[in-house]
Amino acid sequence: MTDTNNISIKRVEKSRLENLDFENLSFGRDFADHLFVCKYSNGKWGESRIEPYANISMAPSIAVLHYGQTIFEGMKAQKNDDGDIFIFRPEKNVERMNKSAVRLGMPEISEEIFVEGLKELLKIDREWVPNKTGSSLYIRPFMFAIDEYIGVRSSDEYIFMIITSPVGSYYSEPLRVKVETEYIRAAEGGVGFAKAAGNYAGSLLPAKKAMDEGYHQIIWTDAKEHKYIEESGTMNLMFIIDGIIITPPAGNTILDGVTRDSALTIAKDLGYKVEERRISIDEVIEAHGNGTLEDAFGTGTAVTITHIKTIGFNGTDYELPAIDTREKSLKMLSQLEAIKLGKGEDPHNWVVKI
Ligand code: COI
Repeated sequence: MTDTNNISIKRVEKSRLENLDFENLSFGRDFADHLFVCKYSNGKWGESRIEPYANISMAPSIAVLHYGQTIFEGMKAQKNDDGDIFIFRPEKNVERMNKSAVRLGMPEISEEIFVEGLKELLKIDREWVPNKTGSSLYIRPFMFAIDEYIGVRSSDEYIFMIITSPVGSYYSEPLRVKVETEYIRAAEGGVGFAKAAGNYAGSLLPAKKAMDEGYHQIIWTDAKEHKYIEESGTMNLMFIIDGIIITPPAGNTILDGVTRDSALTIAKDLGYKVEERRISIDEVIEAHGNGTLEDAFGTGTAVTITHIKTIGFNGTDYELPAIDTREKSLKMLSQLEAIKLGKGEDPHNWVVKI
């Protein structure tokens, strides 16, 4: 056991790294040797620890299993050819985790515990960070309620944990997405803006139905009218109509994506026109009809920028322009990737070297 920055560290006796096939990484199935953990009790966060990744023991009565009081974040660490490791805008993830925590009645966490813990974890598991194009070490910080109590109230005790997973691309091809007009994801005043696990649980049945019909994902529409586009199951959405990048406003029913914000900033830096406003599915279909729908894509930590090739709506599949014609989003993607790898300019100081 060693101690760094007030984090007590217990290392694995034998690394599992030799079992990992870096050439064939899928998403989210392999986990690095160590995890970071910190417990909240008596109104404060306690000692931080880094320990071997292992099963956790819990009582069947813990609150999270019954009322879903749990939130999470998604981040990535990337390695360049010199072996330097970078993370991207970690303060945004702390900020969003704390917004989610407040909404779910959970305690906020300090940037120090979150980011310093993550940095130490990445130093210890640095060999797990892939340096192949399209691969990265996906980082999953999460917090969950652990009171052994099944009355309905906010828990007094919580665990904050970070696990990491070497990953390849989330999607291996441009997407076929279906506009969802039966189920909803979030309503005004709900938890749509939070990265609450329950938002994802509610998406699984509609997504499965869409997958059974040959789509990869759904496009959520608003809860009142099923008219306005919200987000997709794993990403925020952007459309380019007549040269203008249009994306629905985040922060209420829509997740405030870090990649969304970064992509919009890069777009503005490149001189592209950006509109954050409500966009109806009718507007998208009309633009497709008159030839002004140039592009549609998703943004997210896991998916980075992933192009949409087909939009299914009311039984019709609308095919979008060929991916190699999508100059703006391709340029945004390459700039984003370059910044994340510490290459070239980082005008907004987004990148943190480990
Ligand atoms: C992310 O992009 O990091 C996410 O959390 C989305 C998803 C994989 C659930």
